[in-house]
Amino acid sequence: MPERAPAIDRPAGQDCLANELEAAVSAWDRRRLPRPSVVVVTGSGFDLHLGNQAPKRWQLESLLPFASHSIEGHALTYELAPTEALGEVLVFRGRLHAYQGFRPPEVVFCVRLAGLLGAHTLIVTNAAGGIYPDARPGDLAMISDQINLTGLNPLRGRLPPDWGPQFPDMEAAYDPGLRRCAREAAAALEVPLRSGVYVGVLGPSFETPAEIEAFRRLGADLVGMSTVLEVIAARHLGMRCFGLSLVTNPAVGTQQAEAPIDHQSVLEVGRLAAPRVDRLLGAMLADPELRAAPTRG
Ligand code: HPA
Repeated sequence: MPERAPAIDRPAGQDCLANELEAAVSAWDRRRLPRPSVVVVTGSGFDLHLGNQAPKRWQLESLLPFASHSIEGHALTYELAPTEALGEVLVFRGRLHAYQGFRPPEVVFCVRLAGLLGAHTLIVTNAAGGIYPDARPGDLAMISDQINLTGLNPLRGRLPPDWGPQFPDMEAAYDPGLRRCAREAAAALEVPLRSGVYVGVLGPSFETPAEIEAFRRLGADLVGMSTVLEVIAARHLGMRCFGLSLVTNPAVGTQQAEAPIDHQSVLEVGRLAAPRVDRLLGAMLADPELRAAPTRG
């Protein structure tokens, strides 16, 4: 008779890092850091300035229970920015991507930490390819909904029941109230703002023209390699989500796509758009709508 494999004390799947998150929350409190109400995760090339920014920035590494590495242009730091309307806003500059080899619980670690610290709202920004016909580098689009084509999900496995429901609702994943607030802020600031469906892919290779055509037929307007796992984890914790994409290039195969896409031009477009992004998110973070209680996913 072959010997049976030894039993393991958790079902097959992935460790959601619950113990590590609990320890990170305790460590946060031991440092006597204020707990944030809103968390912002900024993507490639975004250099966000939130008004009277807190001067102190910390390396993300010190917060993570696993080894991290950044890719060019992603400064992995975090800071607390005090705001008048919302109290402390926690800003993560740069993120971990699945294409870098991080597992979903690692990709969403910072969002979960913010949620467990009490943040009720997640604002994510990202660089995206524009799939819609007249996409131009520098377009800003808020995300109306997402299609997760990464093949990954941060809720896989066994999660602490007090984090949220096992099968969370994703119908209004991107909060309609926050989108209204963004539309109003954009109109007042005269910042052109589109709206579109974001398809999240694993990467890191860019898409083929056939893939982009398939995504277009599926109803996607924007394509990128981040965000979708973070939003799933945030909704699971009952957080409201707002997503802002900066179109850095028309996706391949679309009429506007001319030069091949490269990471440097993605960063450059980000730098040029930074003042508009700052003004838009700054106005949103001054809006009392963001104080409203979250809706449970
Ligand atoms: N595809 C995927 N991710 C991206 C793109 C793209 O064209 N541009 C910026 N991030």
